[in-house]
Amino acid sequence: MQIAGFGVEEWLNVWERKATYDIAQSTIASMTMKEILNIDGSNGQSFYDLLDQQKMNYGWIEGSPEFKEEVAKLYKHVDSDNVLQTNGATGANHLALYSLIEPGDQVIAEYPSYQQLYDIPKSLGAKVDYWTIHEDDNWYPDIEELKQLVSRETKMICLNNANNPTGTVLDTNFLKQVVEIAKSVDAYVLVDEVYLPLDNPESFTSIVDLYDKGIATNSLSKTYSVPGIRIGWTASNAEVADIFRKYRDYTMICAGVFNDMLAVHVLRNKDKILSRNKQLVMNNLKIYQEWIENEPKVSLIMPQAVSTSFPKIDINEDIEEFCIKLLKEKGVLLVPGNRFDMPGHVRLGYCAQEDTLKQGLAKLSEFLKEY
Ligand SMILES: Cc1ncc(COP(=O)(O)O)c(C=O)c1O
Repeated sequence: MQIAGFGVEEWLNVWERKATYDIAQSTIASMTMKEILNIDGSNGQSFYDLLDQQKMNYGWIEGSPEFKEEVAKLYKHVDSDNVLQTNGATGANHLALYSLIEPGDQVIAEYPSYQQLYDIPKSLGAKVDYWTIHEDDNWYPDIEELKQLVSRETKMICLNNANNPTGTVLDTNFLKQVVEIAKSVDAYVLVDEVYLPLDNPESFTSIVDLYDKGIATNSLSKTYSVPGIRIGWTASNAEVADIFRKYRDYTMICAGVFNDMLAVHVLRNKDKILSRNKQLVMNNLKIYQEWIENEPKVSLIMPQAVSTSFPKIDINEDIEEFCIKLLKEKGVLLVPGNRFDMPGHVRLGYCAQEDTLKQGLAKLSEFLKEY
């Protein structure tokens, strides 16, 4: 099976451990185990007491009932039976695509976005058509373009809401229009929803609450800051969940007893974690915005309080060369835009710790003065 290299992952695998100021990541600054367990003020004692009693067998195959119930609470109309635990959102996207896409299907994918959403269907033999987003439209996809792309062969429409790398959030009205188009050809709509806008989370609508053939994928890696536990999920209707079960048995079995326990702890304390993260995101956004206003070589369509952004850098140099030199000379890590097929831009993860962000931006400015 042929598949393209994963641009962003290949870049990060080589460079991320070499950074002093890592402002490339899309996670809201992670917490230590101690901080995670102390989020409820318990110092982790009750968690460790419970952990000590666990047998390290496979545990709950689909995720514990507690996990599935906590996830179901994130939606308006999802039954916990139809939540399946996965190895991160990466595992969730893979499961959904591997289970549903066949050679010859047409898949329409928002582009650029998370590379899994177009290169996995291609590798499975689908005809993938890009629904390209444009900076001139504030990175918002154009519904008229979707109408042009859709056909009787459309099996699935793939979206990333909010979008990585641009941080654009798709609103409810727009999603409803996508659903109407999908319904007209009986297509699934798969939406990777790992980035929740923290300025106004209540305004966010999950695809699974809008459309019977909507599939939401998500994880604890971005909005909840704990990629280290590798826990994600799919949420869908019952029929689709049954299809996923069959494929899931071949690809993962379970996510592990410890990871499930920690995931339940995070979800039960989500209000505290989201409040910590909202504060971090809003504070860093202000710092970032001020920096942009004073940095003549950088312009940006502001992300909507999600942890990824895609500024344009006005330099006369290959963007990847620029990013490598920036890292070697100033210790600052970005993701060059060519990794999203958009040279001229970079992904800047402004939701690092405040000090890292401030120093990273200052060093980036120093470096840009040389151009
Ligand atoms: C849109 C999107 N989906 C999924 C992932 C991977 O998430 P996870 O760590 O849960 O596998 C990322 C990570 O960058 C992402 O940006």
